Amino acid sequence: MNHKRTCVQLAVDIAKKMVDNFGDEIKVDMDIMISGAILIDVGKLLEYEMIDGKLSTSSYGKMVRHPFSGVAIAARFDLPPEVQHIIGTHSKEGDLGKRTVESIIVHHADFVSFEPFKA
Ligand SMILES: [Fe+2]
Repeated sequence: MNHKRTCVQLAVDIAKKMVDNFGDEIKVDMDIMISGAILIDVGKLLEYEMIDGKLSTSSYGKMVRHPFSGVAIAARFDLPPEVQHIIGTHSKEGDLGKRTVESIIVHHADFVSFEPFKA
């Protein structure tokens, strides 16, 4: 949860600083960005399962990583495509496509708040 909290907070701080410094040169939809930042890992609800008190990757999660299952969940609840885009592109799966400004910010906030802690 600390990673998730930090990711959202960093995204907000980055977006504010970008708008402060670049003014009209950049537009950030804060509602879309915050919604996406909160939901980027919602697909992990399907990617992992608890068996005998131990967390492990589910059989579904071995086939469908959380960026994809997250988009499916967001679509099921009719969330805007801009939010679905952030969920689907926040991770390495988004590296080959073009990210929106909001997704670029969330992507970096996400990685900077977990990469330093990887074993
Ligand atoms: Fe993720």
